[in-house]
Amino acid sequence: QEGEVLRPHRLADYIGQTKVKDNLQIFIQAALARGEALDHVLLYGPPGLGKTTLANIIATEMEVSIRTTSGPAIERPGDLAAILTSLEPRDVLFIDEIHRLSRTTEEILYSAMEDGCLDIVIGKGPSARSIRLTLPPFTLVGATTRAGQLASPLRDRFGVISRLEFYEVEDLIKIITRAAGILNLQITLEGAAEIARRSRGTPRVANRLLKRVRDYAQVWEDGRVTQELAGKSLDRLEVDPAGLDRIDQKCLLTIIQMFAGGPVGLETLSATIGEEAETIEDVVEPYLLQQGFIQRTPRGRVATVRAYQHLNIPVNPSHQEGG
Ligand code: ADE
Repeated sequence: QEGEVLRPHRLADYIGQTKVKDNLQIFIQAALARGEALDHVLLYGPPGLGKTTLANIIATEMEVSIRTTSGPAIERPGDLAAILTSLEPRDVLFIDEIHRLSRTTEEILYSAMEDGCLDIVIGKGPSARSIRLTLPPFTLVGATTRAGQLASPLRDRFGVISRLEFYEVEDLIKIITRAAGILNLQITLEGAAEIARRSRGTPRVANRLLKRVRDYAQVWEDGRVTQELAGKSLDRLEVDPAGLDRIDQKCLLTIIQMFAGGPVGLETLSATIGEEAETIEDVVEPYLLQQGFIQRTPRGRVATVRAYQHLNIPVNPSHQEGG
């Protein structure tokens, strides 16, 4: 994958998410001391915050192998059964987008997670019989954008449930500085800070922007990334000073200009700006909400005064926050 070389491999190199990291460190240390598999771990939060990275780190720290798949990739229960029976003791099975597993596949997972066994039916009709396979102990690491999307029987079978948060600018500066070191790129602290402030609280975005800024630095200048160079590059990439990209801006402008500031329903917003409702809900909205540009009300999304100010649009006198 794209960000491969920039990913930390050990917990000690993983920056930010302190609460999640400190807890995992303890659970891993304890499981290692007992010689057991780590309990099943559910990681949830917006895309790009490091769920896949953490899954890989968990396997490394547990000194086991990782098998990676995703909800949509597992088409039939048999696909999951094949993976489960091929695991070595204490291995990590990482299922990304775990909320997208089919119902029947999900049910296989219940007994595998809870009792470490797999019931399979062999044959058809009157001669069909069921056999029970005992699985090696394993750790399921599941990732999803929203824990609420998971069926509760599945959610309840995770011993560790961790929510990843958007990163502080300070942490993003460290991540960008670390990545620049790996890329052999000269960057000033102010340059890193300029990119960090415009990265939507997301390391994946930070690393992507860093690579693009590096391109501008190489072509426009001597390859060094200063604050001025970073600012000019990010302006050119249409990432605004608050880190909002084209889609974020379009979303805010649509609510304000087409729907008088809202409230507007998700489906209406989706149809108007031509983005999937799921993308708006999982990718666009969380950051706009966290930054206070929009609010969710029972009747839909509302632009806040901060959104008007940010876009330099006078606030309509009838504007009411909170719907
Ligand atoms: N690269 C991407 N995410 C990171 C993190 N949380 N810590 C260090 N480097 C990273």
